[in-house]
Amino acid sequence: MDLILSCPFHLFIHLVLFFSLSSGFPHVAAHSPHAGNETDKLALLAFKAATTGNPSGALTSWNASIHFCQWVGVTCGRQHQRVIALNLHDQKLTGSISPHIGNLSFLRELQLSNNSLSHKIPPELGRLPRLQMLSLSNNSITGEIPTNISACLDLVTLDLSLNELAGKIHMELGSLSKLQKVSFRRNNLVGEVPSTFGNLSSLQKLIAPENGISGNIPDELGRLTKLQVLALEVNRLVGTIPSSIFNISSMVALNVALNQLRGWLPSDLGVTFTKLEFLGLTENLFTGYIPISIANASKIQRLCIDGNKFTGKVPPLENLHDLQWLCLEDNQLGTGEVGDLSFLSSLTNATNLVSVGLRNNSFGGKLPESVSNFSINLYELFLDNNKIFGSIPTGIGNLVKLQRIELWENQFTGNIPIDIGKLQELQILRLSNNKFSGNIPSSLGNLSLLSKLGLSGNNFYGRIPSSLGKCQILEELNLDRNNFSGTITREVLSISSLLHLNLSQNHLTGFLPVEIGNLKNLEELDVSNDMLSGEIPSTIGTCVKLRLLYMKGNNFQGILPFSLSYLRGMEEIDLSVNNFSGKVPEYLESFPFLQKLNLSLNDFEGAIPESGIFMNATKVFVEGNPKLCGVYLSYNCTVALPKDLLLT
Ligand SMILES: *[C@@H]1O[C@H](CO)[C@@H](O)[C@H](O)[C@H]1NC(C)=O
Ligand SMILES: *[C@@H]1O[C@H](CO)[C@@H](O)[C@H](O)[C@H]1NC(C)=O
Ligand SMILES: *[C@@H]1O[C@H](CO)[C@@H](O)[C@H](O)[C@H]1NC(C)=O
Ligand SMILES: *[C@@H]1O[C@H](CO)[C@@H](O)[C@H](O)[C@H]1NC(C)=O
Ligand SMILES: *[C@@H]1O[C@H](CO)[C@@H](O)[C@H](O)[C@H]1NC(C)=O
Ligand SMILES: *[C@@H]1O[C@H](CO)[C@@H](O)[C@H](O)[C@H]1NC(C)=O
Ligand SMILES: *[C@@H]1O[C@H](CO)[C@@H](O)[C@H](O)[C@H]1NC(C)=O
Ligand SMILES: *[C@@H]1O[C@H](CO)[C@@H](O)[C@H](O)[C@H]1NC(C)=O
Ligand SMILES: *[C@@H]1O[C@H](CO)[C@@H](O)[C@H](O)[C@H]1NC(C)=O
Ligand SMILES: *[C@@H]1O[C@H](CO)[C@@H](O)[C@H](O)[C@H]1NC(C)=O
Ligand SMILES: *[C@@H]1O[C@H](CO)[C@@H](O)[C@H](O)[C@H]1NC(C)=O
Repeated sequence: MDLILSCPFHLFIHLVLFFSLSSGFPHVAAHSPHAGNETDKLALLAFKAATTGNPSGALTSWNASIHFCQWVGVTCGRQHQRVIALNLHDQKLTGSISPHIGNLSFLRELQLSNNSLSHKIPPELGRLPRLQMLSLSNNSITGEIPTNISACLDLVTLDLSLNELAGKIHMELGSLSKLQKVSFRRNNLVGEVPSTFGNLSSLQKLIAPENGISGNIPDELGRLTKLQVLALEVNRLVGTIPSSIFNISSMVALNVALNQLRGWLPSDLGVTFTKLEFLGLTENLFTGYIPISIANASKIQRLCIDGNKFTGKVPPLENLHDLQWLCLEDNQLGTGEVGDLSFLSSLTNATNLVSVGLRNNSFGGKLPESVSNFSINLYELFLDNNKIFGSIPTGIGNLVKLQRIELWENQFTGNIPIDIGKLQELQILRLSNNKFSGNIPSSLGNLSLLSKLGLSGNNFYGRIPSSLGKCQILEELNLDRNNFSGTITREVLSISSLLHLNLSQNHLTGFLPVEIGNLKNLEELDVSNDMLSGEIPSTIGTCVKLRLLYMKGNNFQGILPFSLSYLRGMEEIDLSVNNFSGKVPEYLESFPFLQKLNLSLNDFEGAIPESGIFMNATKVFVEGNPKLCGVYLSYNCTVALPKDLLLT
């Protein structure tokens, strides 16, 4: 390798020809006069020689049996037979880009995207004054962007995205006055956006997300009066967005998500940004109000300002008929008062609305009935962690494409509307930690795609409906902290997909049904603080994925079934405050992952095992079992137990 790189150029040419001979090139080529098209041919052969692999075979056509203007990917000008375009995207090319490409002096288009080319961008590209399009997107190119590219004064498109380019973006690139689109997406570029980019007077798209670009967004960018796309997300930008940028009336998409930008949005935002389709401010440090003028940006499709510190009421959004994504979550929006959500009524004309995210704010008030008239295309509704009260609008059953409804951590009251059973696409329904009441409607059983149902921490009562057994791909069923009564519904234990089943803190009575053994995927079972009784059914031994078993505070009794010994993945077992009896099983010593074992306040007897988890007094709790003896207890087993205990 070193040899080839350091050898004189004429020797390199011979190497090229040596290789090309084997593909049938006449040797005379080396001695031909330097006619322009001969130069191009040699440059193409040098390009071929520098690519080490060509598994897709495109370059096998690059042989002497046809003129180079007919080679795959090569386009020549009609009259002069000079190469004007080299288009070899998606050809699985590996190796490097030959510097001799700089000899294709008529080249207008170099399209090498979606290959696996590596090494650096040859600075010789700067010798292509006619180059209009350069795309090296989606390769493995390293090193810096050569400053010489700034000499390609005809460049219209420069796409270097999806590579491993490092170093700074050189200020010299600001001289490419015809440049309309530039992309540096997903590289390792650092340093600042050069202020000279304000000179790129033709620029329409400046795309540089997913780099390590730091510093401020230069004020000079505000001079780019044709700019439509400014994408700088996932970088290390600080400071504010210069007000000059909010003045660019051609702007269609502004995305600066995941930086450390701060500041307020200008009050006339929607008046200047009349063409705006996408505003992405996600996860920055923006403060202040959402400007009322946002409603004038009537072309907006995505309004994503989540993860900031915006405050105040959300203004009406009635003109945003094209709105698809409204992401307001993780801010300080809302006043906690009535009327906070009235802006939602203004969204009923947004017929393409798919996602509404308001979670983690201070929204108060009721969810307006007009939600029922939202776009039929809505598939996500995130309102959790607010101060919303009132009931779920009954018309929610109209939104038949809903896949996720998250209303947890609010102050909702009332019943779950029966019409929820119409939401055939629903996968996630989380209503936990509200003040809902009533029975669970049996129509929930119609939701055959439901995978997560969270109703914890409400005032639901009655029996757990047997229809839930029809939700056969349910993974999470959390019904804890309600007033459910009756026995554990057997049908629910037929849902073999269940991973988490939490029935704790209700008033459930009866036995733990033997059907528990159907839950072969169960990882967590919590039936703590109910009124259950009887023994642990031995079928539990088939729940071999169980990690967490919480049964405390019931009236369970009897000895622990031997089948429990099959549950070797156990991490936590809490059987405290029951009436379990017999010896503490020795197999617990060999459970490799067991971190917590609480057997307190039962009726266990005999000696406590001594190895495994039992060696660690901070992991085992056995207080309140008067017939137990062992190291943790006042009764050491080597000392004779008091007579009354021995007799029992
Ligand atoms: C490319 O041009 C340079 C400088 O004119 C020359 O030295 C070199 O031989 C050329 N390469 C090819 C492959 O013709
Ligand atoms: C040269 O290219 C032509 C056209 O693609 C092809 O049919 C032929 O097999 C190639 N010859 C060699 C020796 O690779
Ligand atoms: C990148 O190129 C590979 C082929 O080399 C292709 O499979 C992949 O889809 C491309 N990635 C993108 C984001 O275009
Ligand atoms: C380009 O921009 C820089 C910084 O904004 C400025 O100093 C310089 O004069 C401009 N150059 C040209 C050629 O316009
Ligand atoms: C915005 O544009 C107006 C008119 O084009 C101009 O008067 C004003 O100075 C500009 N503001 C900024 C901050 O560039
Ligand atoms: C902005 O929208 C408001 C309310 O829809 C309207 O009254 C006003 O005329 C609009 N302003 C501009 C500049 O379009
Ligand atoms: C929806 O559009 C209709 C027809 O343009 C209009 O009458 C109605 O006021 C609009 N509703 C909202 C909430 O903007
Ligand atoms: C829903 O829209 C229909 C038709 O525009 C209207 O009659 C009805 O009052 C609306 N319902 C709600 C709850 O806003
Ligand atoms: C639920 O499904 C049952 C049939 O299983 C059907 O009779 C009932 O109408 C459905 N309810 C709702 C609210 O869709
Ligand atoms: C063990 O269970 C008892 C009774 O439920 C409880 O008071 C105690 O805090 C538990 N110990 C631990 C460490 O969880
Ligand atoms: C505890 O279980 C034993 C049988 O092991 C039973 O005789 C006793 O009545 C139970 N105690 C309570 C309080 O349920």
